[in-house]
Amino acid sequence: MSATISCISHYLPPDVYTNAFFESYLETSHEWIMARTGIAERRFSKNGATSDLIVPAAREMMKKKGLATEDIDCVLVATVTPDYMFPSTSAMVQHKLGLTKAWGYDISAACSGFLFALITAVKLVESGASKRVLLCGADKMSSIVNFRDRAQAVLFGDGSGVCLIEQSKNPELGFIDFLAQIDGAGGPSLKQEAGGSVKPASVETIENKEHYIYQDGQAVFKAAVKGMADISAEIMEKNNLKSDDIAWLVPHQANLRIIAATANRMGIGMEKVMVNIEKYGNTTAGTIPICLSEWHQNGKLNTGDRIILATFGAGFTWGASYLRWYLND
Ligand code: ACO
Repeated sequence: MSATISCISHYLPPDVYTNAFFESYLETSHEWIMARTGIAERRFSKNGATSDLIVPAAREMMKKKGLATEDIDCVLVATVTPDYMFPSTSAMVQHKLGLTKAWGYDISAACSGFLFALITAVKLVESGASKRVLLCGADKMSSIVNFRDRAQAVLFGDGSGVCLIEQSKNPELGFIDFLAQIDGAGGPSLKQEAGGSVKPASVETIENKEHYIYQDGQAVFKAAVKGMADISAEIMEKNNLKSDDIAWLVPHQANLRIIAATANRMGIGMEKVMVNIEKYGNTTAGTIPICLSEWHQNGKLNTGDRIILATFGAGFTWGASYLRWYLND
């Protein structure tokens, strides 16, 4: 049995914050942000939680596919900004959508969350354990960004991408292969220090701003360039793929320079790379499904297209996946 993404949708909150917003109160400039990251604007959600970013996208997707609430049997949510530490955001999504027959759980792998959760969803479907998985990659990064720190405030955004994973009607098409890795030695370079069992929230942790993102930008940058490029090249080699075979590279959108380095290593021209970082910044678990959904919406994906998904994030976590686009129709 093979599995495929049979439907896809996304949601971005309506409020747009251009680089001028940060110029108005931080020592930064549109030129610096564009040159160093490729980001021109991003969306921030003023109200609601991560599950509220997921629900509109999931409703739209279920409508497109003509699914009833009892048709989905599993909800997976990849996020680092869950509604609560517990209960899970997947439980919130299940409840808000009224999915009466679903179980599910959250997956925490930061920017690699969607890819890791995709692998899980595919294996649930391939094994026959699930028939239809609602797979969500979503983050409300504005809830953990330090808006006073120019080195991180400009990078992130809020958004969600959701898809339906079900059995592929054509076993040649759909999800084909993956490679994934995790290395906790990278943990100190990118983290939310407080609020977990190591450092429960206290007045001191709040005063020290340890409930915000901590990032050693250069260390993450170097590891991301190597990790994402290496694993993408490796999955091509493993599947005997030449750069001409690939229709689209879908990289995690953290920094345009990391994306360009990955494409370069794979020998793929930027015209075959999905890039929307200029509009949305880094939505963490949202970037890859938002890209796929936008490209699909714009009619740029064809049945059988060979696509490589590639990612790198906190953990460190990184991975790549090879699929052939097929919506089961
Ligand atoms: N505006 C102006 N100057 C800035 C800004 C800004 N917004 N941010 C940083 N600077 C300054 C720094 O203070 C530094 O100044 P200094 O030389 O006086 O000390 C200078 O610019 C250079 O700083 P660097 O950190 O060397 O800048 P760099 O070119 O590395 O870019 C960036 C920083 C964009 C953060 C980059 O390192 C990066 O993209 N890192 C990877 C981020 C990433 O991939 N994160 C992973 C995903 S997140 C997740 O998993 C949740």
